[in-house]
Formats: sequence, structure tokens, C-alpha cells
Amino acid sequence: MKKILVIGGGAMGSAFTVPCIENNNKVIITEPYSRIFIKDLSSKNKFHSALKINLPKKLKFKKFTKDLLKEKFDLIVIALSLSGIDFIGNVLGNLKVKSPILVLTKGLKYEKKINKILTISEQLKKNYKGMNVSVLKGPCLAKELANKNQTNIVIANKNLKVAKSIGKIISTKYYIPEYSKDIIGVEVCSAIKNIYSMIIGAGQSLNSSSNLFQKSLIEMRYLTKYLRGKDETISGLAGVGDLYVSAAGGRNSKMGSYLGKGYTFKKAKKRFMPKDTVEGEQLVREIAPYILNKIDKKKIPLMLNLIKAIIKNKKLKLNFI
Ligand SMILES: NC(=O)c1ccc[n+]([C@@H]2O[C@H](COP(=O)([O-])OP(=O)(O)OC[C@H]3O[C@@H](n4cnc5c(N)ncnc54)[C@H](O)[C@@H]3O)[C@@H](O)[C@H]2O)c1
Repeated sequence: MKKILVIGGGAMGSAFTVPCIENNNKVIITEPYSRIFIKDLSSKNKFHSALKINLPKKLKFKKFTKDLLKEKFDLIVIALSLSGIDFIGNVLGNLKVKSPILVLTKGLKYEKKINKILTISEQLKKNYKGMNVSVLKGPCLAKELANKNQTNIVIANKNLKVAKSIGKIISTKYYIPEYSKDIIGVEVCSAIKNIYSMIIGAGQSLNSSSNLFQKSLIEMRYLTKYLRGKDETISGLAGVGDLYVSAAGGRNSKMGSYLGKGYTFKKAKKRFMPKDTVEGEQLVREIAPYILNKIDKKKIPLMLNLIKAIIKNKKLKLNFI
């Protein structure tokens, strides 16, 4: 039995506790930010308002405190959204936490001072180089995992032994890991698929979405290699695997469908998705300054048009493809 701390009681962090508990671990979940999730997780029946299920009785909720983070864990899992990464990086870095860290969060950060795109693991290590960070990505709808549907994911660490030891702790019959050394490629693919699933969603028929799917893969390959990821990762679970699930359903492709119908981003957001976080939009705003400055514009026409549509609030143009 291992001791696992999950930081982030949203849909994904909570769903992740299900296989971990089934694999006989002692699992503690904590929530630093959302009052709703704190209420859900500290309630008697642990009904999760986003997952719409009762979480396992054995799951323990603890208040987010520095003392909690100072405890010894076999694994600390980060399941916050991208906006919480700076915060948790500072807290864990200042405490010089030694426990292995596993990042579920998907996204990239633009570091203005050095004009570089950083992966989340690079961002986390900024405060404390000794942090032992692995990432887990791939096609995984939190609700499906929470209901124990078969879910195949990839765990990446430059040292495959570390990735495999984490896989052993968290896997079950239905939660099945693969392994990769290409931590950068896995992180880049799993972030930019949020942008490309919006583009694929903008297709107004299956035929046109399929064309956008294929063109998106070409751009994903270019960007992943540009950012020093490996080519083979694009055809893996973090690349095309995750692109498929996000394009088939979810908030990014839903927003894409409104953009494809001719709505501007602001209008679509206000009218149809006022309360939804659209991760692809957040990522576009985060990395646009770098992309517009550094990348050969001819190589990524789809991404550029989406950037224009979101940043300048213009209608999305896709008819040239
Ligand atoms: N690796 C995987 O298999 C996988 C699968 C699905 C989702 N994800 C990723 O997991 C992350 C969380 O997704 P989710 O569906 O649980 O989202 P969610 O909205 O249900 O939960 C978001 C979590 O982040 C916290 N948070 C939000 N803003 C914050 C801030 N400013 N500071 C600190 N904490 C903040 C919330 O309190 C909550 O704990 C996303 O990055 C998503 O892409 C990963």
C-alpha cells in the first residue's frame, strides 16, 4: 500500500482517485481553490458535482495546508488547471518537496523574460531543480475514468524506471499505462490538441472535419518537433489519441463548432458557454506572442487563423484549406 496525495479536487483529480483506491493505496485528496469542490469532497457521501458520482468511501479529504505537503508521500499528483501551476510550483518548490510528482494538468506556459515556451514540468522545476517530475497524459474523459471505463494513458519520464514504478502504483484492469521517455513531446502534444480539437470542431460536416483533422496532425507534428518533442509521440496516445477524444466531444470542439458557424469567440462564449472554461482558448492566449514571433507562418495556417479569431475576435477563416 502506497500513500498518494492528489492536489486538485476537480473532475480529473477526483476521477484519478478511483483507480488509485482500487489498487489498494491510501489516497488523500486536497483542494486549494474551489469552494464547491471542497464542499463536495468533505461531504459525508462524497457526491462530486462535476462527475455526478459518489467517490469511494475510502477516499480521505484533507484541508490544503503546508503541513499536509510536508508529510511523506509515495506520490504527489497535480490535477489543477493550468492557472494553478505557478501557485503550486511556488509552494512545492519552497518546501523542496522530495516525493515523486505526477502531473495530470495539460498546457504550456510562455515565459516572456526568456522568450521560451515551457512545459508544465519545466515550469514546476523553476523553483526547485531537484523536483522529481513525471507526467501522465492521453485520451481520458474524467467521467469515463470515474465510471471505470477502459482508459489507456501514457506516463513519461526521461528515466523509464521511474515512469514504470508510478504505473505500478496507479494502474488497474481498466486504467492501463504505456510509457515514454519523451516528456517534452508528450506535454506539447497533450496541450496543443486542445487548440486543434477546436479547429476540427469548426468543420461543419464529418467530411470537412476529417480534412481539418488530417491538416491539424501536420501542424501538430511541426510544432512538436519545433519544441523538441519526438516525432513518434504524435502518433501515440498523447498525440493523435488525445486529439480524437477531444475532437469527438468536449468543450473545445463545441466552441469550435460555433466558430465554424460564423460566431465570433466573444459572442459564442457569452451566448452558449458562459460558464465553461475553454482550455484551447486559454492556451491560445498564453502562447500566441511566441507563435506569432517565432514560428514560420506558412507551416501553421490553421493555428494562425484560430489565434486571429480569438485574440482579435474575428470570424474564423477555414475556407482556404
Ligand atoms: N492527464 C489526464 O489524463 C487528464 C485528463 C483530463 C483532464 N486533464 C487535465 O487536468 C486539469 C484539470 O482538469 P479538470 O477537468 O479536473 O478541471 P476542473 O475545472 O474540474 O478542475 C480544475 C481544478 O483546478 C483548480 N484551479 C482552477 N483555477 C485555479 C487557480 N487559479 N489556482 C489554483 N487552482 C485552481 C480547481 O480548484 C480544480 O481543483 C486540466 O489541465 C485538464 O486538461 C488531464
